[in-house]
Amino acid sequence: MPPFLWDSSMDTGDPLLDREHRTLVDLLNRVLEISAAPDRDVEIMHVLTDMYLYAKEHFFDEESLMERVGYPDRERHIALHRAFVEKAKALTDDCLEGHLDFAEFAAYLMDWLKRHIADEDLRIVRWTNEQAEELTDDTPQNDGDEAPGVDDTDDGASGGATCPA
Ligand SMILES: [Fe+2]
Repeated sequence: MPPFLWDSSMDTGDPLLDREHRTLVDLLNRVLEISAAPDRDVEIMHVLTDMYLYAKEHFFDEESLMERVGYPDRERHIALHRAFVEKAKALTDDCLEGHLDFAEFAAYLMDWLKRHIADEDLRIVRWTNEQAEELTDDTPQNDGDEAPGVDDTDDGASGGATCPA
């Protein structure tokens, strides 16, 4: 099976999320690579376990970010994560019992990752950036004409503090 290629639609712009997403894609590619190996079942179990644990860690980071920034669609997004973990667990159980439909499994992982990152995760980062921009827009700005507290009506000749010549 050809490797799953990263494309720019999956770049969220958040360094932590992008790094973790790329690690998930690397793990998925490891699964695809192993699928061609003769003793694949044992190896796939190891990689699936790594992927399962890493996905949970990544979801925790993402869910912490959503909580920190007050993301309004957080509950629905968390439900998507839970559904993925359940499905991944069911497929891993199928693998353990020796009746994993590998093509179905690989297709599910690739489709879910790409759609979830490019649609759902990108929405979190966009929303976070919009909030940051609104905060910046609301911050009083100094237009640079004068330093705070400087009275530019003073010509220096009225007995104020001046530098010696
Ligand atoms: Fe997510």
